[in-house]
Amino acid sequence: MITNQEFNRRRHQLMSMMPNNSIAILSAAPEKSRNRDVLYPYRQDSDFFYLTGFLEPESVLVLISGREQQQFLMFCRDRNVERETWDGRRAGPEGARLKYGADDAFPIENIDEILPKLLEGRRKIYYTAGKDANFDSFLTKKVENNRGNAGSTGSSVELFINLEQPLHELRLLKSIEEQKIMEKAATISARAHCRAMRNCAPGVYEYQLQAEIEYEFAMAGANSPAYGTIVGGGVNGCILHYVENNSKLKDGDLVLIDAGCELHSYAADITRTFPVNGKYTDEQKVIYDIVLEAQMSAIAACSSNNFWNDSHKTTVSIITEGLRDIGILDGEINELIETKKYSDFYMHRAGHWLGMDVHDVGNYKINEEWRVLQPGMVATVEPGIYISPDNKDVDKRWRGIGIRIEDDILVTDNAPKVLSSDAPKTTFEIEALMASK
Ligand code: GLY
Ligand code: MN
Ligand code: MN
Repeated sequence: MITNQEFNRRRHQLMSMMPNNSIAILSAAPEKSRNRDVLYPYRQDSDFFYLTGFLEPESVLVLISGREQQQFLMFCRDRNVERETWDGRRAGPEGARLKYGADDAFPIENIDEILPKLLEGRRKIYYTAGKDANFDSFLTKKVENNRGNAGSTGSSVELFINLEQPLHELRLLKSIEEQKIMEKAATISARAHCRAMRNCAPGVYEYQLQAEIEYEFAMAGANSPAYGTIVGGGVNGCILHYVENNSKLKDGDLVLIDAGCELHSYAADITRTFPVNGKYTDEQKVIYDIVLEAQMSAIAACSSNNFWNDSHKTTVSIITEGLRDIGILDGEINELIETKKYSDFYMHRAGHWLGMDVHDVGNYKINEEWRVLQPGMVATVEPGIYISPDNKDVDKRWRGIGIRIEDDILVTDNAPKVLSSDAPKTTFEIEALMASK
């Protein structure tokens, strides 16, 4: 769990990146209706959680830089015995102060009256527009009024600055505590993949493997999957974000599972592709080993001081060469790469940042140049080869094979650390695990 001390440090880091006397305003994620009287399970906004640890909706965080006191202010739902009996416990403003360390806290109903006072004399507002239309328009009105009143206060808001710029730079570098949680999320998720491998057999439905995976998450106390679990048998493995998960698994096919849990708001993101009957066919093994070689080479490229794109580049070379060696591509390697011939079979990038969001925040380029990797960054490495069942240009024996291998990698001062290494990934290891069930 992230400690109050760390939340406090994050707020101070952010404020140290803001000019004195500027204000940052951030609202909690709104609740969303799923259907009549039913809400989607509530998930706090990642930026809001990062700075507060506060999990309730209808809350607003205000940070004011450069003043001695009253830097961290919260608005939240008031305590209410009746509402808490129906909807669950609330911290209330007192809890926000005592438990979450707010310098002061107010009932959310009072924001209308209090926020204008907090805006007085502030020239710069750090804010992320576009996440919550209601709050956008509320804040815009308050700022309009503030400008209207400038005559009496002597100054007015001059500038909205995108809060994401400084905040997401902080989120990109994971602290030791964050690294520990992410390793645990990856370990639970790896165990879930092993469970799916052990419970797989011809005739099992994709949703049944999904249930095995999510059972393991829930039993470990991981609040939910970090994203929709993908279980794609056979040609469904060629659909990158397949979520129907309703087909019966067939003897002789592969099954691709892309699944990771969310633990204390941090995501894991792992993919394994294994044979439904426990034994890869020769063709499946050939394609698998190309993807695995690409993946291992890309993991090695996640070393500090390398460029972000180095891992992608090596996957493109190895996959292009591999596909040419088996006759699926034809031509000179550099030309095949330049003309992106591989992209019929490998149509996504090798990975993405990973953190509280599965596709986590942080720029991949700085001033148009690929970013240099630093210890504390976490990314996925997930090359794949997907041969459409309808691709008539490819020999029949390869068609319908879809393979992705995905791990979660921590950049360190030394060798890259594979957080998800508990999930077996050579064909040998996977066959051995499936034979031992
Ligand atoms: N599970 C989504 C992804 O791999 O990016
Ligand atoms: Mn994934
Ligand atoms: Mn991923």
